[in-house]
Amino acid sequence: MNSIELRSDTFTKPTKEMLDFMFSANVGDDVWDEDQTMKALENKIAKMFGMEAALFCPSGTMANQIAIKVHTQPGDEVVCDYSSHIYQYEGGGIAFNSSASVNLLKGTNGKISVALVKDSLKEENIHFPRTSLVSVENTTNKGGGACYKLKDLQDLASFCSSQNLAFHMDGARLFNAIVKTNTKPKDYGGIFDSISVCISKGLGAPIGSLLLGTTKFIHQAKRIRKVLGGGMRQVGYLAAACDYALEHHIDLLKEDHRRAHEIETLLKDRPYVISVLPVETNIIIFSMDQPLKLVEYLKTQHILCSAISSNQIRFVTHFQFDDGMLKTLKKALLNYS
Ligand SMILES: Cc1ncc(COP(=O)(O)O)c(C=O)c1O
Repeated sequence: MNSIELRSDTFTKPTKEMLDFMFSANVGDDVWDEDQTMKALENKIAKMFGMEAALFCPSGTMANQIAIKVHTQPGDEVVCDYSSHIYQYEGGGIAFNSSASVNLLKGTNGKISVALVKDSLKEENIHFPRTSLVSVENTTNKGGGACYKLKDLQDLASFCSSQNLAFHMDGARLFNAIVKTNTKPKDYGGIFDSISVCISKGLGAPIGSLLLGTTKFIHQAKRIRKVLGGGMRQVGYLAAACDYALEHHIDLLKEDHRRAHEIETLLKDRPYVISVLPVETNIIIFSMDQPLKLVEYLKTQHILCSAISSNQIRFVTHFQFDDGMLKTLKKALLNYS
């Protein structure tokens, strides 16, 4: 029996239609700039966001780390929320790849504000690191899938520009935010220096993140991708998967959000749940005593999820978690005490 997968939207698998589309891709050697399917994907997503250029990366981590490397010099400081993926879950990559330090802010559900950034900036003084980059995550993973209001990002962008700071977005789940807030990719493309957008999470491609920026930025990014071993050959197959996901899977995110809300509503009524972070998109984070006991119980019901701290559990919905599975989950949660 297949388990119901709620550990992450990264567990989504290519559908038969996606695989068929991949197999028919026209491929070439992308290190030699000869993979037409990849070129078309990079151009398509750059145009979609109204940005000059894009670069395919094998992971969101690599896309973020390349951006940080391009935007910083050794010793510089990167400003971000303390729970950011770029800091917490990329293996110390900011230090390892860029020899940069971090200035961690305590935002709200993973989101930072102009006031917080302003307050954290150091004066020009040889004792202090030079701040060169502000990075935001949208949606926020540890913040329970929270979305920024576009206005708040516009304010952050204006502030960064006034202080000569580069502004990057880790958009691992940006399409969830776009669907939820009824915004457009170009709204973001117009205000960020760089954006990483992931196609292998809720959109269901097996591999692939795209880094977006100016032509000059992407040229530098491509050099760094090569250094990191991310120059790949017949990647048109993967580009085709991403293209298929962009064409067919964005609309499905709304349903993922609806199912997440239904889970939130049920959890709020369960006596063993202490609190649930406000659910905006496809991530549900709730706190309780002894979360591992519930994780183990759900496993016996063939439902997989993870404890993300000593008192928190996370569920992530995706298009391969359907209404039948939602029903099974609800029943299991109701039967647990
Ligand atoms: C917010 C966020 N950023 C970046 C990443 C990294 O993506 P990848 O696993 O493709 O490296 C993740 C992965 O879950 C994520 O949640």
